[in-house]
Amino acid sequence: MSHIRHILILTILLAAPASAQNLDSLLARMTLEEKLGQLNLLSADGRASPQQMQLVRAGKLGGLFNVIGAENTTPVQRIAVTESRLKIPLLFGLDVIHGYRAIFPIPLAEAGTFDPGAAEATARAAGQEAAAFGINWTYAPMVDIARDPRWGRIAEGSGEDPYLGSLMAAARVRGFQQNIFATAKHFAGYGAAEAGREYNETEISQRTMREVYLPPFKAAVDAGVASLMSAFNDIAGVPASGNAWLTDTVLRREWGFTGFVVSDWTSVAELIPHGVAGSQAEAGRRALTAGVDMDMQSGIYVDSLAALVRSNRIPMAVVDSAVMRILRAKMRLGLFRDPYRARTAPANAELRTLARRVAGETIVLLKNERSLLPLDKAGTIAVIGPLADNKEEPLGPWHTQGRAEDVVTVLQGIKSKVPAGIQVLYAQGAGIEDTSKAGFAAAVAAARQAKVAILVLGERGDMSGEAASRSSLGLPGTQEQLLEAVAATGTPVVLVLMNGRPLILEWASDHVPAIVETWFLGVEAGNATADVLFGDVNPSGRLPVTFPRVLGQIPLYYNHRNTGRPPDPNNKYSSKYIDVPVTPRYPFGFGLSYTTFTYSDLRLSAARARATDTITATVTVTNSGSREGTEVVQLYVHDVVASVARPVRELKAFRRVTLKPGESRGVELRVALRDLWFYGLDMRPVVEPGTFRVYVGPNSAEGLEASFECIP
Ligand code: BGC
Repeated sequence: MSHIRHILILTILLAAPASAQNLDSLLARMTLEEKLGQLNLLSADGRASPQQMQLVRAGKLGGLFNVIGAENTTPVQRIAVTESRLKIPLLFGLDVIHGYRAIFPIPLAEAGTFDPGAAEATARAAGQEAAAFGINWTYAPMVDIARDPRWGRIAEGSGEDPYLGSLMAAARVRGFQQNIFATAKHFAGYGAAEAGREYNETEISQRTMREVYLPPFKAAVDAGVASLMSAFNDIAGVPASGNAWLTDTVLRREWGFTGFVVSDWTSVAELIPHGVAGSQAEAGRRALTAGVDMDMQSGIYVDSLAALVRSNRIPMAVVDSAVMRILRAKMRLGLFRDPYRARTAPANAELRTLARRVAGETIVLLKNERSLLPLDKAGTIAVIGPLADNKEEPLGPWHTQGRAEDVVTVLQGIKSKVPAGIQVLYAQGAGIEDTSKAGFAAAVAAARQAKVAILVLGERGDMSGEAASRSSLGLPGTQEQLLEAVAATGTPVVLVLMNGRPLILEWASDHVPAIVETWFLGVEAGNATADVLFGDVNPSGRLPVTFPRVLGQIPLYYNHRNTGRPPDPNNKYSSKYIDVPVTPRYPFGFGLSYTTFTYSDLRLSAARARATDTITATVTVTNSGSREGTEVVQLYVHDVVASVARPVRELKAFRRVTLKPGESRGVELRVALRDLWFYGLDMRPVVEPGTFRVYVGPNSAEGLEASFECIP
């Protein structure tokens, strides 16, 4: 070790506060400017600018994000820990949402595995890869419940269900935090944006907030998440980034969260256009006193709050608490001991194997008439569509360092799957949002020559994600017409979808024999899709979100309440439309397999139970088809009579089971009655005595039924 390096490490070790007491004494040595500096977070453009380096030197920056590569994080960290007066290390953040460079399926797709272990594994791998490039903090998982597919950010979360969303949130936190800090975002209610319009206001009752939108955050907190990000939206007029009820009362006082809260990008400054602050200083005061510790990108805390603290309009204790949360986080992450955190990235082959396996588990078979799928590896195959040989779009939204060159397209996946003698024809047919039909003739000609036509259609990756709300949910451009033109040839069509949200698929659902939902699957998209199309993987993905029939049904979600006039086709004056059924096209939890499963003999461990007990449901599931396959057995509950009307069904347990052809198994699903709580009339969680109906089956619209009494 060189002399200089030795001295350097010694300096760091001497400066390193190894304990909470040392943090107290560090705080005592900080000037007000240095304190506010720790609460300041700025985005770099790949690397820190000279001005940002100067801020670091002056102790006016607590963290940077979007600094890419250890060759760029290391020099700034060196400035922080050797040149700044107090030598406090920096956090380096990045939106590692579904991979760093090795891109995994988008989170919505991954939720459809109903396999939290898969989500944990990809989060862990992504975190490990990011850490090797100098990142120590990700802005994930996004745990917003979304019931409106117009909202583009539905792609980043786990869909519409709070139970599935909570399990996925906790799994991702555990996975990421093996290597880097996680951030549960966006706290809270962002997914309820009115009309699905990005950043829009929300109107969420406290009961719905607590029962639907908050549970995944609570699960992330219970899993030890280091930070939460406050959301852009307001909730009934109170912006989430200046909302003391959320960030103080619920998060810190009720849940005992000891980590820190970071604002979203300029969401502190945005309190001004929201109309709840008249100046930057007022916006900063409101956010900080509400409990938002770190100001992302507004620069308001560091620039505008010192005078308010000096004049006692912001108590110093508020600043100190926020600073201590940041310092404790840095200590917990080990930054004072090891600011550079050199890590080794997982091997690329390992990442790709994981990406392919998980992508295979996410794919949802929506329709498969006369067992068109899986395909034989024989005869001429036409592969058609703007997404068939597209290397960019399978990366989906928020793909950080993902590169198109790493992506295996569906065409490539198919070609490498079939034997050399098989002819694979390709025609793009149309662009994603084209108005032209110039490519149709070539596509139709290819389909005519083929035994089967595989159409790969859907959205561009950036049509979902942030700032990507859509007001129509059909296939964009002329893709639907392309589909119709190819189907008109009479060649059987397999529709492979790539999209970041539920689409409206009425024509396809009525006319196309096989439909496969692949979402955006990342670098191994093409291989994973080919694995499913040719039966090397039997699909087991299930929808984590409802697919409506028409736009006008939105919001449409499975865990709604009944009305006083439940839909009745024979009663005009019941809750329905005159022009479309009330049911979805594809319900939550739905997904087919190349085999079939039958359910029988549902039994509950007790007919009566107390609120402190656990009930076990046992059901016999039989693989009644001719292939091995995996079923996602789902258990839903309905509280029949309660002081507050309860959802018609709520997912409370599920289990993936793999069965050989002809095999039967008794599958057990456990429900602790304490998990059947809701917010009672007095706005406290309660499990009320009475009858609970239990449904166990393949999705939210089917299943066997049993019931038990909850006794006082
Ligand atoms: C997004 C966040 C993201 C942040 C930093 C914002 O625009 O809403 O989800 O973490 O930018 O990139």
